[in-house]
Amino acid sequence: MEPRETIELSVLYRISQAVAHRRDIPALIQEVFDVLEKDMNMSFGTLTLRRPDTDVFVIEAARGMTPEEHKRGQYKLGEGITGSVAKTGKPEVVPDISKDPRFLNRTKTRKGNPVAFICAPIVHHRQVIGTISIDRPAVEKEKLEKDLEFLRLVANLLAEAVASIREQIVEQEGLKAENERLRRQLGDKYQPHNLVGNSKEMRSVYDQVAQVADSAATVLIRGETGTGKELVARAIHFGSSRKNNPFISVNCAALPENLIESELFGHEKGSFTGAAQQRKGRFELANGGTLFLDEIGDITPAVQVRLLRVLQERSFERVGGDKLITVNVRVITATSRNLEEAIRAGRFREDLYYRLNVFPIHLPPLRERRSDILLLADYFLQKYNEAYNKKIKRISTPAINMMMAYHWPGNVRELENCVERAVLTSTDEVLHGYALPPSLQTSDATNTALLPESGASLSTMVESFEREIIVDALKRHRGIAASVARHLQTTQRIINYRIKHLGINPQDYRQ
Ligand SMILES: Nc1ncnc2c1ncn2[C@@H]1O[C@H](COP(=O)(O)OP(=O)(O)O)[C@@H](O)[C@H]1O
Ligand SMILES: [Mg+2]
Repeated sequence: MEPRETIELSVLYRISQAVAHRRDIPALIQEVFDVLEKDMNMSFGTLTLRRPDTDVFVIEAARGMTPEEHKRGQYKLGEGITGSVAKTGKPEVVPDISKDPRFLNRTKTRKGNPVAFICAPIVHHRQVIGTISIDRPAVEKEKLEKDLEFLRLVANLLAEAVASIREQIVEQEGLKAENERLRRQLGDKYQPHNLVGNSKEMRSVYDQVAQVADSAATVLIRGETGTGKELVARAIHFGSSRKNNPFISVNCAALPENLIESELFGHEKGSFTGAAQQRKGRFELANGGTLFLDEIGDITPAVQVRLLRVLQERSFERVGGDKLITVNVRVITATSRNLEEAIRAGRFREDLYYRLNVFPIHLPPLRERRSDILLLADYFLQKYNEAYNKKIKRISTPAINMMMAYHWPGNVRELENCVERAVLTSTDEVLHGYALPPSLQTSDATNTALLPESGASLSTMVESFEREIIVDALKRHRGIAASVARHLQTTQRIINYRIKHLGINPQDYRQ
């Protein structure tokens, strides 16, 4: 048999490896328990963590328990042995748990042969943030003392990792709660449920939506492509008394010129080649509800005339027909074009413009409301986590910096696509900067050489990747380069060199 010290050393080494490569707390703890079970003859193991801002310690991970048993494991400070270790911050060993009245056996797992129970506190910044305990077949006291000492070492190894993962979780939950709070503060009435964003620009949009929704007024929504014009149109519809009737959306730019009239107004059988059946147009389909005409700046003069007539008279004929059809439709239009310029150029009728522009709503481009970027990114992260069954928990700081620095010519749609792609390609629980498209890997965000127009060079991407890993490690090790070097399994000389080269300031992470 190998001497105990050799085994212990190899166990500690493997645990430190697990700590360095950890993903989340459960995964890390399972790895640690694997090692303890195999090499230390541990039969049960539990790790409790303190609920933030409480005195309650909850079993976070366990070995040798069913999920039900696991759930029963909750201890208050000072309660039972676990609670006592949590309170005093001193490790304890109970040679035979059946003989210790303090042993609560709350999880009701232990029966049969005498077992010893060893519990060590996980201490971070002089605070007990959790406990780790193991069961072992009862042996003589002396051996158990050694086990205790050993478990204390394991707990120390885990403390930093557990604390930093917890911090991330708490931070994220805090952000979520804050979002929730802000949303509630705005009230359902003012923030349509489908719209995300808390900038003062968007709040003004919500006000306008609330103001106009329940009237029959025609609304013109202006804004660059991807700013959410269609969502706002829907919000108006669903905020109105028409909400149980259809919302029909037509993208005027997507329809060929010769089809748009029949699409909007319908046609009679045989009215043109290919019109084999009579067909209802979108105006008829939207009866009682709302018709949303997107890219209204793209319709031809002929369609402009017909549209003007419908808006004036609320009635029209189908293409190739003479029966007058009357409808009750609220019209909302949208455009990313400069209609005033189109009027000057003679491409858009001024009288139609005044008909449409009764209540204009302007949607500002995303780069002019940067405070919404993170809220939206977070929202899309949740959305695509669900859609793709992923469990990405946070967005890395470098990724956040890149998103904040970028000018988003494609606005929210582009942001949504970026997050979707990053979620889809992610292999861990973090949305990393290097998962974002090359167009975001700019000098602003990564502090490196300027990029060619076409995209990012390989070296820029590698550097942004490297920067992210080093900054991550610096944060974890509070700016101490020596610890970072150890963590990343390289030399301090190399780390210092890279830090300098990448223009990182370790001081920023010293706290
Ligand atoms: N404020 C917002 N909150 C949530 N999603 C948004 C928001 N604005 C835009 N989106 C999303 O971005 C994409 C583009 O929005 P859309 O309304 O089609 O833009 P536009 O009509 O201005 O081109 C859609 O997938 C939409 O769901
Ligand atoms: Mg659109």
